[in-house]
Amino acid sequence: MGKFDGRVALVTGAARGQGRSHAVQLAREGADLVLVDAPGPVGSVPYPLGTEDELAETAALVEKEDRRAVVVAADVRHADRMRAAADTAIGEFGRLDIAVVNAGIVTYHQLADMPDQAWQDMIDVNLTGAANTVRAVLPHMIERRYGRIVVTSSQAGRRGVPNLAHYCAAKWGLIGLVKTVALETAPHLGITCNAITPGGVDTPMMRHDEVYRTFVPELDAPTVADMEERLRQMNPQPITWIEPTDITHAVLFLAAEESRYITGSVIDVAAGFNANNVA
Ligand SMILES: NC(=O)c1ccc[n+]([C@@H]2O[C@H](COP(=O)([O-])OP(=O)(O)OC[C@H]3O[C@@H](n4cnc5c(N)ncnc54)[C@H](O)[C@@H]3O)[C@@H](O)[C@H]2O)c1
Repeated sequence: MGKFDGRVALVTGAARGQGRSHAVQLAREGADLVLVDAPGPVGSVPYPLGTEDELAETAALVEKEDRRAVVVAADVRHADRMRAAADTAIGEFGRLDIAVVNAGIVTYHQLADMPDQAWQDMIDVNLTGAANTVRAVLPHMIERRYGRIVVTSSQAGRRGVPNLAHYCAAKWGLIGLVKTVALETAPHLGITCNAITPGGVDTPMMRHDEVYRTFVPELDAPTVADMEERLRQMNPQPITWIEPTDITHAVLFLAAEESRYITGSVIDVAAGFNANNVA
């Protein structure tokens, strides 16, 4: 018997990386899935985002676990598309129990010379997109007085990070959103809303030249190996990467029935990087 037998979960950013890991593990534990991703290009993002093919691959992995997957190619920036995605869950499965609010982007600029588009895209995707997702699922959860909302913030939502003012602002904003939704839904008893704040996770978001240049600015053409060396120096626990599955364990914990009195909380999965945070 799976931990999530009979449950239905919506996962944004499900085409790859952490979102795919969360979706497949939820399916392994019995959940049916609504998978949202493939937004097309986002103007200021220099690396490719998830595609419809990758989204279909995640769906195939869910189906391999003998669960159903419905794919929604949508951009979380569009509130109406997110409402339609939530309605799809109800239409296809008759319920929506879990929302994993995971879609996100990253770009790197000092605030003094950050292009307007970079600021706007970041807030639109990482903050408004997440809010759109939570707003879309909440009415269904409130109606049924049951829901588990898990939002992916970041260690950059717990401290300042040079080159990431826009990302930090969005990810700190998500903590405020989560705590507020936790208070607003607390009277319904069955609904919880929590955040996870990962450290450096090995996903496509972190494997391209702009990241390597930002982490190792003293080299002209740093490689992934140079950046990995820097990550090893940064992490108190002696590791290079956190794996997507490490984040998934925390998602599944917060999505479970047993976590019913955990709401408005933030869980660091960051190899000790969080231990220096003041918040
Ligand atoms: N990788 C890390 O080191 C790290 C650390 C802390 C937090 N995070 C956060 O974890 C989450 C997952 O990222 P990941 O590491 O799996 O990276 P990723 O780039 O592999 O996955 C992110 C997914 O979100 C999707 N997405 C982006 N913008 C979208 C939009 N507008 N509409 C719909 N989908 C969109 C992408 O297409 C992609 O498939 C993000 O919110 C990210 O900010 C990542």
